[in-house]
Amino acid sequence: MVSKLDRMKELRARTLEGGGQARIDAHHEKGRLTARERLDLLLDQGSFVEYDRYVETSCSDFGLADKRVPGDGVVTGHGCIDGRPVFVFSQDFTVLGGSLGPAHAAKICKVMDQALKVGVPVIGLNDSGGARIQEGVAALGGYADIFLRNTLASGVVPQISAILGPCAGGAVYSPAITDFVAMVESTSYMFVTGPQVVKTVTHEEVTTEDLGGARVHASKSGVSHFTAANDADAMGLLRRLFSFLPLNNREDPPIGRTDDDPERAAAELNDLIPDSPNKPYDIKRAITAVVDHGDFLEVHENYAKNLVIGFARIEGRPVGIVANQPAHLAGTLDSDASLKGARFVRFCDCFNIPLITFEDVPGFLPGTEQEHGGIIKHGAKLLFAYCEATVPKITVITRKAYGGAYDVMNSKHIRGDLNLAWPTAEIAVMGPAGAVEIIFRKKIKEADDPAKEKDALTRDYEKHFANPYEAAKRGFIDDVIEPSETRYHLVRGLRLLETKRDENPPKKHGNLPL
Ligand code: HXC
Repeated sequence: MVSKLDRMKELRARTLEGGGQARIDAHHEKGRLTARERLDLLLDQGSFVEYDRYVETSCSDFGLADKRVPGDGVVTGHGCIDGRPVFVFSQDFTVLGGSLGPAHAAKICKVMDQALKVGVPVIGLNDSGGARIQEGVAALGGYADIFLRNTLASGVVPQISAILGPCAGGAVYSPAITDFVAMVESTSYMFVTGPQVVKTVTHEEVTTEDLGGARVHASKSGVSHFTAANDADAMGLLRRLFSFLPLNNREDPPIGRTDDDPERAAAELNDLIPDSPNKPYDIKRAITAVVDHGDFLEVHENYAKNLVIGFARIEGRPVGIVANQPAHLAGTLDSDASLKGARFVRFCDCFNIPLITFEDVPGFLPGTEQEHGGIIKHGAKLLFAYCEATVPKITVITRKAYGGAYDVMNSKHIRGDLNLAWPTAEIAVMGPAGAVEIIFRKKIKEADDPAKEKDALTRDYEKHFANPYEAAKRGFIDDVIEPSETRYHLVRGLRLLETKRDENPPKKHGNLPL
């Protein structure tokens, strides 16, 4: 027995070596942690339970027989984050560059299947040279097996991806299907074809970083939701994100305890809106003033800044926040903002996270670039997402709610549960200047003093529509509230809506305007 135990320990120790010390040292020198070190930081101490540590590839083509390593370049299993379970896989770059063959893929698929069965999220730590070239089409099949599981698990359990090294070719599509992608500055990249292929095909010269680095995906493509400074920072970020999420679509998100007074007034909000309707202000000041301890985890911070999205807690309850940002593009909705908002609203709806919308939107962004870029179909996505969402939905109109954007941003008409407005709200088909020019064009043209006439008509329009009371008279707004008391209104609304039940008609799935 002793010798069998020794043998077991010896084999086990071998599985911890990855690609060997020299490769581990080289990996560290690049500022990157190993697959196991990352899991140590991600999971609660001592909680990791490993699967399939002895799995090896059966392929011996192109010299692979001599390069086999137990575990096949990926560490898989489950553990806990703040005591709550999570399935994980962590690719080991020190083993054949973390490349994926069928055995490696089967290990990932096993944890995904288990996660789906028991209703527990999956976090994938990606660091891989992609399909293992020696294993040919079997490697491609392995990726497809993962893509299928990503898709089937979507909306059932949260799926989160961290990109901690290379992620190229079709391999990018697994993270892209998952709910959130975090990248690490300088050491990670994602692209479908690398700089060399780009140069051959399009003659463009571009660096890896400029083509698919963390900054590019966080600000230009929107592929990445979070950027971390290094691996350790990324693991901390994933833990924080996880704290807002339920384990699966049948659970409510975890309610935390808070000592932030639910009735706490935020006096500064009474002065947040500038006197001039065209002056910007930072909507994040409203968000942080009303959520517990001002703690707001912003998602997509550097992408489509005209819409702010993220997670916070109100009286300990996790909420998803969607807010127009008047400090960027005057808070207009463009294609990027619509896509960003739509995906977030749908995520929150999948996972029972109530939505709080702060609205100050002068409309959709005009121009040929937007029209030709498909603002109609992209704006429709945001509208569709809000319409189909059945989670508790609360809106606070802080200032402008104009045109179609009024309808889109969780209006009463598309099943907003509680629609509040500050006294500074302006709810109308369009802003006063534009409206007067259209409906009084003839009258202004024929007036003795057209400018004076236009001013008078504009003031009259403002008096009539630049307020929340026309909408409130019709019941489209449930109440006009003092901004400083917004937190307490949200607290009471969320308490009431905790038992909300609403359903959409049975169907295979809707046809989101893609
Ligand atoms: C097999 C691979 C590999 C791969 C890396 N390695 N990628 N082995 N298949 N895809 C091995 C290397 O041979 C090397 O082994 C070790 O991993 C480390 O790689 P290096 O090149 O020394 O490291 P580095 O200089 O850091 O460069 C990393 C890299 C580069 C940028 C990832 O290795 C690279 O370009 N690899 C190929 C990437 C690629 O084209 N993959 C296919 C993508 S398409 P030794 O033993 O020499 O140390 C794809 C399709 C998926 O994935 C389709 C899904 C539908």
